Amino acid sequence: MNKINVGLIGFGTIGSGVVKVLQQKAKTLEKKLGLNISLAWICDLDIESTRGLDIDRNILTSDVQKILNDQNIQIVVELIGGIHPAKEFILQALKNKKFVVTANKALLAEEGAEIFEAAKANGVDVYYEASVGGAIPIIRTLREGLVADRVETVYGIINGTSNYILSQMAQKGCDFKIALREAQKKGYAESDPSLDINGGDSAHKIAILARLSFGHEVDFKDVYVEGIENIDLCDIRYAAEMGYCIKLLAIAKKSEGSVQLRVHPTLLPKKHILANVDGVSNAILLRSDFVGEQMLHGPGAGQLPTASAVVSDIISIAQKMQGSLRQDNCLVNIDPEKLKVNLIDNIETRYYFRFSALDEPAVLSQIAAILGKNNISIYSVIQKGRRQEQSVHVVMMTHDAKEKDIAQALLEINNLPVIKRKSVAIRTERI
Ligand code: HSE
Repeated sequence: MNKINVGLIGFGTIGSGVVKVLQQKAKTLEKKLGLNISLAWICDLDIESTRGLDIDRNILTSDVQKILNDQNIQIVVELIGGIHPAKEFILQALKNKKFVVTANKALLAEEGAEIFEAAKANGVDVYYEASVGGAIPIIRTLREGLVADRVETVYGIINGTSNYILSQMAQKGCDFKIALREAQKKGYAESDPSLDINGGDSAHKIAILARLSFGHEVDFKDVYVEGIENIDLCDIRYAAEMGYCIKLLAIAKKSEGSVQLRVHPTLLPKKHILANVDGVSNAILLRSDFVGEQMLHGPGAGQLPTASAVVSDIISIAQKMQGSLRQDNCLVNIDPEKLKVNLIDNIETRYYFRFSALDEPAVLSQIAAILGKNNISIYSVIQKGRRQEQSVHVVMMTHDAKEKDIAQALLEINNLPVIKRKSVAIRTERI
């Protein structure tokens, strides 16, 4: 049995999870798949602690060149995240003809074209199952399972931290900050958790999925992004009363040669399958021409689920090296030409509004007049609160309205003297 040598860069939460999984599965891998996967080096700035694992201290190094230049290492696993120096490490590994496994969604979304080009030029490949959806095999599904299909729509709940926060708020009435702290403690959040809650992490992931789904390079900057930082418990409750829940949804749609790429909080009917994806779970709903609709659902973050996805990539490469998989197994040709982007301004959806208004005569008529003037038709209105409070909540659902009409109406409504706080507006999505 040939030994496959792996060098691991990054011994943090996921890195130590990968070591755990490899150690626990070593015998199974040998018996079941005939693979001898050996962890030759682990590189990290902290090489004092063994993270509670039983490992040979001699394989710990803070010198990444020991991995990148070691001729015996065939697979480099990059788990440090961020663009630099991860990009330089990966490019050097590829140049040295090493296969790369990474969970680095930011790097692949923002600089993926250069990374994949370098892999191709050097006759190797980059595997990235753990970059989207944690343990969910979504990259494999798109690269292999749906290879005969044309994917038209991708809806994803693809940030475990924000889904955990929204679920805790909805189910336990929990405060946003407390739920975020819990997600951090559980190891779901990024080292900079603002990426989780401002939608940036989901934007990286939907860019990666759109590229694979539509077979064209995607410019990450074309993804429209809004996060969940302004979602208040009262909005979750009002939405629930109207039969909706609020999810941070990532959307990629292709029609007539153009794409829509967006991430924003979204009202979904409670009965919809995506509305019932709770906690740290992620789900990706795909629509493709032959298969129709299917949804993949599973743990979207956390040490062992993510580590399991990384190890599955290591195994795929090892099998490929041993000739048990086709050589072109994972190479998918992506058209370098980007598709035309359908800007958010052109999108039409129904909207949820919450206005904080004085409780006095003619307030509603002033709001309604502005909405009417901007071609926005009201579907329902509820007033929440009592007169003795300073302001009351007026909650509305609209019919389909154009994004730029909504923006103009909100600008005018926020300037009314009877409006006491910035109005809240959340899109709905008919899936
Ligand atoms: N911080 C990410 C999340 C980890 O919460 O989904 C998985 O990419």
